[in-house]
Amino acid sequence: MLAGKKVLLAVCGSIAAYKTAFFVRLLKKEAAEVKVIMTENAKEFITPLTLSTLSKNPVYSNYFERGSGEWHNHVELGLWADLMIVAPLSANTLGKMANGLCDSLLLAVYFSAKCPVIVAPAMDLDMYQHPSTQSNLEKLTSYGNEVIEAKRGELASGLSGQGRMAEPEELLEIVRKKITANNLLKGKKVLITSGPTYEAIDPVRFIGNHSSGRMGVAIAKVFKEYGANVTVISGPANHFASEVENIHVESAKEMLDEAKKRYDNADIVIFAAAVSDYRPSKPSDQKLKKKNGVDSLAIEFIKNPDIAAEMGTKKGNQIHIGFALETQNEESNAKQKLKEKNFDLIVLNSLNDRGAAFQGATNKVTFFDKNNKEVKFELKSKIEVAKDIANHVIENFL
Ligand code: C5P
Repeated sequence: MLAGKKVLLAVCGSIAAYKTAFFVRLLKKEAAEVKVIMTENAKEFITPLTLSTLSKNPVYSNYFERGSGEWHNHVELGLWADLMIVAPLSANTLGKMANGLCDSLLLAVYFSAKCPVIVAPAMDLDMYQHPSTQSNLEKLTSYGNEVIEAKRGELASGLSGQGRMAEPEELLEIVRKKITANNLLKGKKVLITSGPTYEAIDPVRFIGNHSSGRMGVAIAKVFKEYGANVTVISGPANHFASEVENIHVESAKEMLDEAKKRYDNADIVIFAAAVSDYRPSKPSDQKLKKKNGVDSLAIEFIKNPDIAAEMGTKKGNQIHIGFALETQNEESNAKQKLKEKNFDLIVLNSLNDRGAAFQGATNKVTFFDKNNKEVKFELKSKIEVAKDIANHVIENFL
């Protein structure tokens, strides 16, 4: 299953590093290509010679070799890999990955990798339970990385509790699953609208909304990870997925134009943008001036195009997924939109649910699909919601 797949193993300083020798053996038995990066501390626990002999490749630790001056390009290593697994992941490297610190080759590769990343933490139980460690692990999950929870049992300190790295056999199983997932949407072209739209009032002001673009980014990351070819048409959001093609727009009209250009080529279209329903009918060419003695200002609005509805009328074999953000009559409004906009699936999130708001990292959704299937989910990270969407598409529409 792993024949020819390129696995980048990143090893941190932890006693669990001794298990990586067995893990590399298992990967090689499956005919995977393996390259290993180690932090300086990792070398105290297992030698580079062991891992280079087993992986049949040089082991990388530094940006360049002292002496020969040979340069190890972190971007190339990140692009080479089909999958990166950090095992064992120490609290120190975890903190840096979660917060953007970059003082080793391992971290530079992590920040430049475009492939799926799995991490297998290993540390003493109190370190593992610390709120800082737990919040850093949550951050990695929100970045789209998969966290293999530490196991319970005897620890090197002599204490007993949660902190042991998963065994090599389990790591292999998870790598296998991830690589298979990578093929589930291979060759599919996915078009996503994301973020808010800004509608000009004058050259310096606009009317917009609070959409952060996070849901669209999560969907882009997950569909990309499943092997799809992803394009995101995004309004002025705070979040972007660096792994995919991004088209930047401002207004609903621009978003529609860009969507139209790409629609015929798309297999799956996901309307995750929070599009302004109306726009100022006559945006001013010049900045509107405050007028003495005039205490109110009226702006006339006209209706914007409904991108999802318009694409819905052109629909061929495409699969359409829409969102509904409702504050009342949620279910009936969502079901009505499913029909009216010709969606195959609508994802309802309610502003009444805590954690399901615009800016956050979590969402609580219910699916309604064209086959009258209804699935209610618990509050979860937007990445997990995006996985549920991808799995629903794969299981029901492909
Ligand atoms: O009608 P409502 O705005 O609630 O519909 C939400 C769904 O329709 C979302 O999927 C949104 O991206 C899409 N939509 C759109 N163009 C609009 C308004 C909504 O694509 N002008």
